[in-house]
Amino acid sequence: MRELVELLCFYKDIGVEYMQPVKFTSKEEIFEELKEEALRCKKCELHKTRTNVVFGEGDINADLMFVGEAPGRDEDLQGRPFVGRAGRLLRDLLKDVGIDAKSVYIANCLKCRPPNNRDPLPEELIACFGYLKRQIELIQPKVIATLGRYSTYELTNQKGALGTLRGKVFQYKNIKVVPLYHPAYLLRNPKAIEIFIEDLKKVKSLMMQ
Ligand code: URA
Ligand code: SF4
Repeated sequence: MRELVELLCFYKDIGVEYMQPVKFTSKEEIFEELKEEALRCKKCELHKTRTNVVFGEGDINADLMFVGEAPGRDEDLQGRPFVGRAGRLLRDLLKDVGIDAKSVYIANCLKCRPPNNRDPLPEELIACFGYLKRQIELIQPKVIATLGRYSTYELTNQKGALGTLRGKVFQYKNIKVVPLYHPAYLLRNPKAIEIFIEDLKKVKSLMMQ
């Protein structure tokens, strides 16, 4: 205590009347800065053809995060993830199992749309991974559900068929990762919807543990 008083007297003697409060940057501000960086990003060729960057949306304090592949046409036009036909199916199925889409965070591996919805290229996935990595580090969800093979590979390193990986529990850092079928696959194979619902229920119970 005496040292502190002496230090404060010393500051006063040299003309420092008060000390600036330390400014802490909030998680919201850091997340916003990351988003703004992505909105300006030109790290891969996709910046040339995008309409909007689709950074992601939802609760940045969510316990559950969904990671898809890349924006499609509707997402590119609106700047929001999973708002096209596959997205509507995903949101309906979330509702069916009692998951509020606003209480989760939804993102993609790529933040910009590949032309004509072609598959992501390895160099695009590498260029964009930093954003997803930071999103996960900041959100710190308990569980990540990967939708389709690209996000599954990025976060689990598993290259097998989704038919064998789905519903299993992997780990990314300290976070549980459960691969799920991609909702676009469900549109083509409605029989898989039942399996998807089972997997969603598993994800929900892991999240509540
Ligand atoms: N498919 C995806 O993988 N992500 C979207 O945002 C929309 C469709
Ligand atoms: Fe940048 Fe990712 Fe968009 Fe490529 S896809 S320009 S890396 S934000």
